[in-house]
Amino acid sequence: MLLKQLVIFSLGIIFSEAALAPPERPYNILLIMPTSPGSHRVFFMPLVRALAERGHKVTVLNALKPLEGEHPNIVQIRHGVTHANPDNIDLFALRLEPMKIFDVFASICRLMAQDFYNDPPIKALYEKRDEFDLIILDHIIGEAGLPFVHERTYITINPAPMDPIQSAHLGNLQNPAYVGNMIEDYTRPFSIGSRVKSLFISLLLPRLWGSSTIDPVEEELQKQFPHLPPFSDIIRNQSLALMNSHFSLEFPYPVVPNQIQVGGMHLRPGNPLPEDIDEFLSGSSPVVYMSLGSMLNSSIMPEAAKQAFFSAFEKLPFKVIWKFEQEPPKPLRNVLMKSWLPQQDVLAHPNVKVFIYHCGWLGSQEAVYHGTGIVCLPLFGDQIKNAVALENLGVAVRLEWSSVTEEAILAAVYEVMNNSKYRDRASQVSTIFKDQPMSPVDTAVFWTEYVIRHHGAVHLRSPERDLSWAQLLYLDVEVVVLLLLYAAYKAFKKLVALCRGFFVSSQPSKIKQN
Ligand SMILES: *[C@@H]1O[C@H](CO)[C@@H](O)[C@H](O)[C@H]1NC(C)=O
Ligand SMILES: *[C@@H]1O[C@H](CO)[C@@H](O)[C@H](O)[C@H]1NC(C)=O
Ligand SMILES: *[C@@H]1O[C@H](CO)[C@@H](O)[C@H](O)[C@H]1NC(C)=O
Repeated sequence: MLLKQLVIFSLGIIFSEAALAPPERPYNILLIMPTSPGSHRVFFMPLVRALAERGHKVTVLNALKPLEGEHPNIVQIRHGVTHANPDNIDLFALRLEPMKIFDVFASICRLMAQDFYNDPPIKALYEKRDEFDLIILDHIIGEAGLPFVHERTYITINPAPMDPIQSAHLGNLQNPAYVGNMIEDYTRPFSIGSRVKSLFISLLLPRLWGSSTIDPVEEELQKQFPHLPPFSDIIRNQSLALMNSHFSLEFPYPVVPNQIQVGGMHLRPGNPLPEDIDEFLSGSSPVVYMSLGSMLNSSIMPEAAKQAFFSAFEKLPFKVIWKFEQEPPKPLRNVLMKSWLPQQDVLAHPNVKVFIYHCGWLGSQEAVYHGTGIVCLPLFGDQIKNAVALENLGVAVRLEWSSVTEEAILAAVYEVMNNSKYRDRASQVSTIFKDQPMSPVDTAVFWTEYVIRHHGAVHLRSPERDLSWAQLLYLDVEVVVLLLLYAAYKAFKKLVALCRGFFVSSQPSKIKQN
């Protein structure tokens, strides 16, 4: 077993060194992130850096503070449209009313669309959009960028797993009998109840999502750019979709040639830790790591939950490292609190055995990649779905915010700490993930250059894109068949009636004859 792991581990090292052919020429590429959550950039930057190292010029447009020490071929441009900044949204309040997120999205998207093309850096880039060989657009709430990509060659990049709504646009309608949706997943095989729910949500969600994220943007931008076609036409014209998805980390589903799985581009071995953190993690005690990610601060969680964590951590016979952004109310002997932590390097430390977090997708992938057991505390959006997926994968137990007590926290942490099955399963999945012909970043680089080399690569597009629902599901043919059957039934009935009439009218004469 150990030997096998060693062999596969070294394979993993080889794949990332397998050389791509040199590029035909340096390209000029633009990456647009309208909403700009920090986590999206975490996923995109490995591709941006790899493209820059191959000699391409990559301009990154987002609302984030520029990163320091990046390759000189990377131009970071900061825009000022920050309506989607998570500091302005009370995510804990949203947990109690999950449907409200659609209203929140709708108002954010409308405001963004109103301001986007009045922002000077965005305006200047928009004027220059013809200079780029390729535009890459963030798929998640990226609709404000659609005027940039009209009549341009573009691809999308999705920091989340495959989105069935996008898949349908690309001509690959997913089957809700075994593919979940953007907000829910179920244990496979789906029970009849799950299949009904899955079908219902797959039909409803495109409308709900569209009316909150696409329609308000389209309404606003059609006023500013009257020449634009319907947004659904522009969306359907994307050359290719890169997605943060891989069958080892989820489940197998069908893809068409322009849906490319580049799941885990951000995953990498740990780098050396800052000295104080390294010192704390080293030693003989196993360590629990807690963080609610970059969008959520542990310090603003509900007071009762915060107290429950404090008293539970105090009782644990393990060390705890906690991303906590304020002065701690009281220092605990076994707990190190820091307002920021290099997450992957912490997870990569061999003593870190349990990760308590909100089940954002990037963190989930990092935990599994580094063989850490997981305690999920999902809050909103796709986190609940991710938590179910991780449970199904056998690497996690789940806690609910509504029942976060000291006892529940202790039970969950002990369960994952004391049973190595969660970490063993994570390591097993990690081994399968690493066994790929090309690293996810190289795969993304290859397909990005491919689309430019082949002027939009229209030959990758599925003919299903040009079929209506009625044609795809054979509804037109079914209607004709049903009509024919109905006509046949009517004709048969008529015939029976005629025969009966014949008998009835002929019988009295027979009687007479007798
Ligand atoms: C979280 O903490 C960081 C660092 O202290 C701060 O800059 C940010 O505004 C906080 N965010 C929220 C949502 O409270
Ligand atoms: C559709 O994509 C092709 C290939 O990338 C591009 O040449 C064309 O201009 C696009 N059409 C529209 C309407 O955006
Ligand atoms: C887990 O192990 C700890 C000691 O490391 C022990 O105190 C605790 O009772 C165990 N809990 C469970 C549920 O096995």
